[in-house]
Amino acid sequence: MSAQQQAPVLAIDGPTASGKGTVCRLLAARLGFHLLDSGAIYRAFALAVADRSIEDHEISRLQEEAQALSLEFRGDRVWLDGRDATEAIRAEAVGMRASRLSALPEVRSALLARQRAFARPPGLVADGRDMGTVVFTEARLKVFLTATVDVRAARRAVQRPGEDPSAIAEAIRARDRQDRERAVAPLRPAADSIMLDNAGHVPGRTVEVVLALWRQQVKAQG
Ligand code: DC
Repeated sequence: MSAQQQAPVLAIDGPTASGKGTVCRLLAARLGFHLLDSGAIYRAFALAVADRSIEDHEISRLQEEAQALSLEFRGDRVWLDGRDATEAIRAEAVGMRASRLSALPEVRSALLARQRAFARPPGLVADGRDMGTVVFTEARLKVFLTATVDVRAARRAVQRPGEDPSAIAEAIRARDRQDRERAVAPLRPAADSIMLDNAGHVPGRTVEVVLALWRQQVKAQG
C-alpha cells in the first residue's frame, strides 16, 4: 500500500497569491492533518543556492544541493542550514528565483521524495503547483484555487504596504508566466481537480467549501 493510500492527501494547487497558504493552514488545523508548504521548499532551496553562489546553469551542483538541502519545518518556522529562514525565504526575489529554478527537471526530481515523505497518518494537506498533477497523483481530493490578478495583487498589497501596486501586479503576471510555461510540471489543474474561485471569499468560507467536498469524497471512497 502506498503512503498516499495510508495517509489521505488533500491537494491544493494554484497560482501565487491565490490565498492557498492561508486556506491550507486552516484546513490542516481543522482536519488535524500535517501540512506541506511545497513552495517553502523551493524558496529555501533558492536561498541556499544563493548563499553558496551557485548559478542557474550549474545543473549538477544544483542537483547535489537539492538532494543535500538541510531544511526543517519546526511548527510554522522554516529552518535552513541551522538558522531560522522563515522571513528570508518570503522575499519577492527569492520567490522569483525559486520559480526559475523550479523549472529545472533535475531540481524537481531531487526534491520529490522530500515532499512525498510528508504524507503520514492521519493525513496531509499539500499546498503547491503540482500537488495534484505530479507529487500526489492519488490524492483523495484535488482542488485548484483561482483568483484574478487584480484580486491577488490586492491581497499581496495588504501584506506589503508601501510597495507600488502596479509593480506587485506585474510581478504576479511574470511569476504566472514562468510557472505556467515551464516544460516540466507546469502550473495547471489536474484533470480530476475541482476549480474553486477564492476571489470574493474570506478564507474561512473557502475552507468550509473544501471541507464539505472533502467529507463527500471520504464518504464516497470509504
Ligand atoms: O507558492 P510559492 O509562491 O511559495 O512558490 C514559490 C515558487 O516555487 C513558485 O513560483 C514555483 C515554485 N513551486 C513549484 O514549482 N512547485 C510547487 N509545488 C511549489 C512551488
